[in-house]
Amino acid sequence: MASVRVCFLLPVSVIYCILLIIMAIVETHGVSFDYIRRDEEGNVSAINRALDDVDISVEKGEFIAILGGNGSGKSTLAKHINAILYPTEGYVLVDGKNTADEANTLTVRQKAGMIFQNPDNQIVGSIVEEDVGFGPENMGIPSENIWERVEEALKILGMWEYRKHSPMRLSGGQKQRVAIAGVVAMHPECIIMDEPTAMLDPVGRKDVIRAARALNDVEKVTIILITHYMEEVVYADRVFVMQDGKVKMTGTPKEIFSQVEELQELRLNIPQPTRLAYELKKRGLSRLPDGILTEKELVTELCRSYSTM
Ligand SMILES: Nc1ncnc2c1ncn2[C@@H]1O[C@H](COP(=O)(O)OP(=O)(O)OP(=O)(O)O)[C@@H](O)[C@H]1O
Ligand SMILES: [Mg+2]
Repeated sequence: MASVRVCFLLPVSVIYCILLIIMAIVETHGVSFDYIRRDEEGNVSAINRALDDVDISVEKGEFIAILGGNGSGKSTLAKHINAILYPTEGYVLVDGKNTADEANTLTVRQKAGMIFQNPDNQIVGSIVEEDVGFGPENMGIPSENIWERVEEALKILGMWEYRKHSPMRLSGGQKQRVAIAGVVAMHPECIIMDEPTAMLDPVGRKDVIRAARALNDVEKVTIILITHYMEEVVYADRVFVMQDGKVKMTGTPKEIFSQVEELQELRLNIPQPTRLAYELKKRGLSRLPDGILTEKELVTELCRSYSTM
């Protein structure tokens, strides 16, 4: 009898593990959100629908980029994933947990950490290592484990040698990496980065994106990156394009950037090599494939299709 039970239980637990592995880390189901403005008497004076029936699913370990013009709803969506805002309609699941259930708020915020545009607003400690330890401390992690986590996070972000520095004396890119280390120290499954490089110089931008890619590649952290910089989108597994609170396009960077005219209609920047390839194609180089993303790819394709050698 016992062996029958073991035989039955084993496959169930294996199936459960497989389900956990392939389960989406973030799902939104028909999510709409209204910003409601009230007058002094508390009456509704304006309703602004910032999200409109958004259905997305992000698998564990994916690198997602979210594009969209100003006011298209990107930050509002990000705040829903981090349980800062709750849907007016529909629901959001983070690792299967409904964000609108107050009992899930801490778990949701620990599973899906968030990085904002301005690193200065995210730094709370006066010394780098203290700042990074703040999150795990708030989670009630025992102090010996906090220091392990701080060391691990600072090493992953390449900021270990700055552990005794004052964050305020660091460059913008370094500060942003300290802020990311602070989230990493909470061992999230997913990090949502809302234009993390918008206030940085080109060197800082590169460092932060390299760090995000390493977190995804090596540590298998799911990354959801909101950005206006097209060169940062190239590395994504999938891209969501938003307009007027809706997800208008979904696909790999190649699929998305093959649709140059649709992107132009949405008034989005297009990577320079993609635009050049598109213009060359329109002017007769018809053998060039769609969706060229990098200079290197463009040169390779030009040589392959048009070399006389
Ligand atoms: N606190 C707020 N109160 C009222 N309306 C808001 C508020 N925050 C955002 N909105 C509105 O909601 C819509 C979506 O804004 P959101 O900030 O999510 O866009 P976004 O895509 O992040 O834009 P950006 O690229 O400028 O950061 C816009 O119409 C915006 O004006
Ligand atoms: Mg925004």
